[in-house]
Amino acid sequence: PAASSEALPLAGVRALVSAGGTQEPLDPVRYLGNRSSGKQGVAVAKALHEAGADVDLVAAHVDLILPQEQAATASSPRFSVHRAGSAQELEDAMARRAEQADVIVMTAAVADFRPAEVAESKIKKTADPDDAPVIRLVRNPDILRGLVERRDLTGDTQVIVGFAAETGDARTDPLDFGRAKLERKGCDLLCVNQVGRDLVFGQDTTKVTVLAADGSPDRTVEGSKDDVAAALTQAIAQLIDHRR
Ligand code: CTP
Ligand code: CA
Repeated sequence: PAASSEALPLAGVRALVSAGGTQEPLDPVRYLGNRSSGKQGVAVAKALHEAGADVDLVAAHVDLILPQEQAATASSPRFSVHRAGSAQELEDAMARRAEQADVIVMTAAVADFRPAEVAESKIKKTADPDDAPVIRLVRNPDILRGLVERRDLTGDTQVIVGFAAETGDARTDPLDFGRAKLERKGCDLLCVNQVGRDLVFGQDTTKVTVLAADGSPDRTVEGSKDDVAAALTQAIAQLIDHRR
């Protein structure tokens, strides 16, 4: 608490961050989900807040103790927490706050598909021991793509950031997959987690390259999720500086 928040690099900036992983309901007690812990998104939200930004964190099933909600004070910006369950709820929660945001970071693992039908009551087995249901899936909206479309339609200058974990394959470098994704999404920065095929998913140390909008590597960080969050916060601050 040495400096006043005015001196911080993101003072006056409003940030909207999604974290965690969506769950897509099958019936009142079951869902399709993923193993995202929400650690990276919470680290990003905290780093942006520490850099002086007012933060709205939209958490989808984050299995951590979330940071305390904080009203803005003279020495510290606001930190608010909201919850979303499914991809559709997350889309709503982000869309509702997008217009007010100067920077949006999508770290949440959004289910690409959801069950086409949600049973109103618990799905039961039948008497036939060979009988098993077939679950039909439908596509979920691409939330990040939708946020970029809204931004471009309104001529907004907000900074939009995506995350991706890529392994690459025999012929393609993980960063090339990242570049293709960046172009498809149209975001300003894409944090590509280069998941080596010998590395374990969900580990605490990661190698992340931040790609700029033109696909060039802006910076590479090897370290904890807090290190990644700190580097990304710097990259965001530089972009916002350029646009001011
Ligand atoms: N994302 C999103 N909405 C979706 C899927 C993904 O907003 N329905 C966002 C994620 O939050 C992330 C980025 O898009 O910031 C990249 O997610 P990823 O799953 O890597 O991209 P996809 O377009 O779903 O491609 P893939 O087929 O490789 O899963
Ligand atoms: Ca996906």
